[in-house]
Amino acid sequence: MYKLTAAFLLLALGFLLCEGGNPCCSEPCQNRGVCMQVGTDDYECDCTRTGFYGQNCTKPEFMTWIKVNLKPSPNTVHYILTHFKGFWNIVNGVSFLRDAIMRYVLTSRSHMIDSPPTYNADYSYKSWEAYSNLSYFTRTLPPVPEDCPTPMGVVGKKELPDAKVLAEKLLVRRRFIPDPQGTSLMFAFFAQHFTHQFFKTDMKKGPAFTEAPGHGVDLSHIYGVSLDRQHKLRLFKDGKLKYQMLNGEMYPPTVKDVGVEMHYPPHVPESQRFAVGHEAFGLQVHPYWDDERLFQTTRLILIGETIKIVIEDYVQHLSGYNFKLKFDPELLFNQKFQYQNRISSEFNTLYHWHPLMPDSFQIEERDYSYKEFVFNTSVVTEHGISSLVESFSKQIAGRVAGGRNVPGPILYVSIKSIESSRKMRYQSLNAYRKKFNMKPYSSFEDMTGEKANMQAF
Ligand code: HEM
Ligand SMILES: *[C@@H]1O[C@H](CO)[C@@H](O)[C@H](O)[C@H]1NC(C)=O
Ligand SMILES: *[C@@H]1O[C@H](CO)[C@@H](O)[C@H](O)[C@H]1NC(C)=O
Ligand SMILES: *[C@@H]1O[C@H](CO)[C@@H](O)[C@H](O)[C@H]1NC(C)=O
Repeated sequence: MYKLTAAFLLLALGFLLCEGGNPCCSEPCQNRGVCMQVGTDDYECDCTRTGFYGQNCTKPEFMTWIKVNLKPSPNTVHYILTHFKGFWNIVNGVSFLRDAIMRYVLTSRSHMIDSPPTYNADYSYKSWEAYSNLSYFTRTLPPVPEDCPTPMGVVGKKELPDAKVLAEKLLVRRRFIPDPQGTSLMFAFFAQHFTHQFFKTDMKKGPAFTEAPGHGVDLSHIYGVSLDRQHKLRLFKDGKLKYQMLNGEMYPPTVKDVGVEMHYPPHVPESQRFAVGHEAFGLQVHPYWDDERLFQTTRLILIGETIKIVIEDYVQHLSGYNFKLKFDPELLFNQKFQYQNRISSEFNTLYHWHPLMPDSFQIEERDYSYKEFVFNTSVVTEHGISSLVESFSKQIAGRVAGGRNVPGPILYVSIKSIESSRKMRYQSLNAYRKKFNMKPYSSFEDMTGEKANMQAF
């Protein structure tokens, strides 16, 4: 009887393994080792240049062992940078120390990114196509193979719950939760404006593709992605873009004036359709330079100014660091540093910071609902730029992390995002944590700090 059970168990196990199909589905290779299927049910880990060896790339080489034991964890580094204010005040004032630490921040971050880029949604192995085809977002981790037993490989459910149900249970806002760092609405709109130059999903081709082949801070949201669009927006005089004056303030020209495509809903009147580089976004003169050189130089200067604002104000605020970040290209001039950039779809997915948005928009004495606010350029012209900036700077944004804070009117964006993530077969959160040397979560409580409340599901 005993023997029979054992034999049965073995059989069942064998059956399970066979049914498991592709052995890479269980992500056996650790420390960035690459899994390769061998025959029908075996695998091999390629541990080349990981600093580890063994069947699953788990055994550290001697130098790796030393590094792993000496190197502080990402949590420790973050703790140090966000505490010890007195210490950082001294460092911030000594320029060679500040430069050295800024150099470390930049190079250590860039070393975590594969460059040149590796995978995309259709290539889970390195290939010329994945490297060279700029119409794809790259992928930080390759997609889960198609032939796996579950969407996440071997773990989790075979069928995932409906995205709409998930969004309504976990994401939608019940009551506005303010951001604990006191982030303003101005920050939120800057985030949206800045990131839409490189997060520009090609909705016609699907979530794996981008319409922004510059993959970085190229100001294509201002100048347009194509040369044709740029030319339509340019004045071809003094290096300037076309513009119109309203109440003594300078605004973008109308769509009718320049003839570029913009996405406005039908009810927006022609006179209120601003034309700018990004379809969905509702100087100085040098006497010896021609228009072209003025235009091109202005663009480079504005790219530099944008990066400076992003690093020294925006990222500074986000990071919570007491160390004062610095934008200075010369910091990296004699470092090993990859200047090319490729935007990954995981980065895009994570940046869906819609919980930043408030319940309504308070501008001067008026309160605008979503319906009144979106695509309504007369909000801009009626209040004027400076009072808009003042109002946005006073209103507090919502908390992004922690769930249940996406405003109802834009919950559909979260639902689409969940659906796209599934289409692209993202790996598990823990797989990404491991990729960035963070400890995988062991439970729901470990991840959220809350006990799973089954009633809530
Ligand atoms: C009134 C405010 C906002 C509205 C109405 C809105 C609406 C939308 C819509 C309709 C999409 C496209 C969804 C899809 O078809 O998949 C989208 C995408 C996105 N949104 Fe927002 N959003 C708002 C604010 C923000 C803010 C403050 C951020 C901050 C970073 C943000 C980040 C993003 C990102 C990264 C994407 C993906 C872009 C792409 O892949 O092309 N949004 N949003
Ligand atoms: C490698 O991983 C597989 C699957 O997770 C496991 O069965 C095996 O024992 C591991 N090998 C070593 C040497 O740890
Ligand atoms: C990039 O890949 C897509 C999808 O396979 C294809 O339609 C497109 O033509 C490719 N682009 C280039 C420049 O090869
Ligand atoms: C657009 O904003 C103006 C105020 O500038 C407001 O009077 C108008 O009702 C808004 N339009 C819509 C469609 O809500």
